[in-house]
Amino acid sequence: LKTTSTLNRREPVEPAGRTANKINTFLLLVLHFVVVGICRQQISFVILSEHDYTMNFAGYPTFKGQVLNGDQLWDLIEGLEANNLLYYTHLLTGYIGSVSFLNTVLRVVNKLRSVNPGLTYVCDPVLGDEGKLYVAEELVSVYREKVVPIASMLTPNQFEAELLTKSRIVSEQDGREACNIIHAAGPSKVVITSINVEGELLLIGSHQKEKGQPPEQFRIPIPKIPAYFTGTGDLMTALLLGWSNKYPDNLGKAAELSVSSVQALLVRTVEDYTRAGHDCQSSSLEIRLIQSQDDIRNPEIKYRAEIR
Ligand code: ATP
Ligand code: MG
Ligand code: NA
Ligand code: MG
Repeated sequence: LKTTSTLNRREPVEPAGRTANKINTFLLLVLHFVVVGICRQQISFVILSEHDYTMNFAGYPTFKGQVLNGDQLWDLIEGLEANNLLYYTHLLTGYIGSVSFLNTVLRVVNKLRSVNPGLTYVCDPVLGDEGKLYVAEELVSVYREKVVPIASMLTPNQFEAELLTKSRIVSEQDGREACNIIHAAGPSKVVITSINVEGELLLIGSHQKEKGQPPEQFRIPIPKIPAYFTGTGDLMTALLLGWSNKYPDNLGKAAELSVSSVQALLVRTVEDYTRAGHDCQSSSLEIRLIQSQDDIRNPEIKYRAEIR
């Protein structure tokens, strides 16, 4: 926590293009604290991303460390197994850049489920944003055909939901239908973290409580802040995991709490950069996580799930 608070106090730096979207260890560690902060001792979980060994953020001028490959990941899993440490209630996956790592993640899910059949697998299918892929094209079909079917909850953005359902999403109705397609493939909970409809953001949530039954769906309108942020998708998925564990039968409430935390944090982030004389539209902003601890632990609900 000390390291992360230091990182968060850094002067704003220019991100190096789209690499700024890559998840990093710093963020993974913080997300660990986010989930633990919400759930206390109720859960045990693993977060996996291909950047587990990267010691800082790929958007900084310099970053060090290696990317963990699939074999190295499996090695760690074997080490845990040898010590009888493979019982987990939750698995969260974020950015994964290679088919080899993703295939190992599939093996890991099977392994963890053989130890705990009740494992909740929350998958953020990080593929791209705003019409642009930021992983190799070959990952898309692996996600669609192998990963999505075994996920418990999926948290795509608009573009990712389109890729995974082979559909176009330009309206709320399209978003709801994409959720139905995803339910049919496997996951009982889907949150499309945002779709852009006429300049405003709309979160679409969908919970299919019983297979074959119509899901309960809702939307949360979110006013768009004119800035780009790094880490919002990761934070959103971590919060959804945490609050869904607390409210397993109320995805709407979990999403209200998550959106309210994220928005409070984004407002603080913009204020902080503005105070430092930074033009918030000139580069992507690092979210102010540590300074927003109270908003993460105990958000004031300002955004409501609308059921229609
Ligand atoms: P990332 O690019 O970090 O992977 P994502 O594309 O996966 O994010 P988004 O849906 O873009 O996911 O963002 C996640 C959440 O962050 C949204 O639900 C929204 O609450 C918040 N958010 C992101 N950008 C903005 C913004 N400019 N204005 C308001 N809210 C935002
Ligand atoms: Mg986005
Ligand atoms: Na997302
Ligand atoms: Mg994302």
